[in-house]
Amino acid sequence: MQQTFAIVKPDGVARGLIGDVLKRIESAGLRFKAMKLVHMTKAQAEGFYAVHKARPFFKSLTEFMSSGPALVMILEGENAIARWREMMGATNYKDAAEGTIRRDFATDIEKNVVHGSDAPETAAFETSYFFNAFERV
Ligand code: CMP
Repeated sequence: MQQTFAIVKPDGVARGLIGDVLKRIESAGLRFKAMKLVHMTKAQAEGFYAVHKARPFFKSLTEFMSSGPALVMILEGENAIARWREMMGATNYKDAAEGTIRRDFATDIEKNVVHGSDAPETAAFETSYFFNAFERV
């Protein structure tokens, strides 16, 4: 059993896509272990995406991620990290496979609706960045 960290980003929340995304997660058989809405400050978004600090898109990305509420979640299931990434599709929606969330809903390489951890170490950092022990079921 594995846990991963997921976000419905501010574009997804603003466009009313929470229900669509959660339905796909439930249909895939992944379980929710924690969930809440957060409106990150710029500094909180910078801390979350610190690994991308040197990237040219860092400023724009952290402004976008702090522009409105996002839904943050912990998901659990067999091979959850890879399964959630497969459901999301490629970072650039233009490269994302048919039937993936980004292919179906994303409008931009940055405003790509969802986020998911890429490895167990990242999942551990990202889940504990947003959730304490009392917020996990
Ligand atoms: P995410 O999976 O959350 O990881 C980092 C985010 O940076 C990514 O989704 C996009 O929102 C954004 N991103 C990645 N590559 C680019 C890019 N080339 N230009 C703009 N934003 C990007």
